[in-house]
Amino acid sequence: MTSEIELPAIAKSSASSSTSSTAKVVVCRGRSCRKYQAEAVWDNFAQNLPSDVELMSVPCLGQCGNGSMVVVEPDQTWYSQVHPEEVETVIQQHIIGKSPVKAMLYSKFHQSIQRS
Ligand code: FES
Repeated sequence: MTSEIELPAIAKSSASSSTSSTAKVVVCRGRSCRKYQAEAVWDNFAQNLPSDVELMSVPCLGQCGNGSMVVVEPDQTWYSQVHPEEVETVIQQHIIGKSPVKAMLYSKFHQSIQRS
């Protein structure tokens, strides 16, 4: 399922106000992230996400210059500098395997987790 919504810039700790436990991937498709292949990132998620995972597009996540930015809900895991070819890793390891991809975490919001 995909959806495109218009949201204001989202604060660092709240990519969504939803309290739902439904898995969701939020892809920033703003101008800055599009410079970093956000459209290809979006396309790869759209083509490969399991059907029970929602895919959402936002116009900016307030972290311009670190794109492509992706947030996985409901655990609010932020990924930065996501390349299209890394989407499959996020799907397999995080969405399906339930284990965040530490090497891709956005260090600004996940400082306690060591990137490897
Ligand atoms: S355009 Fe993606 S974080 Fe601003």
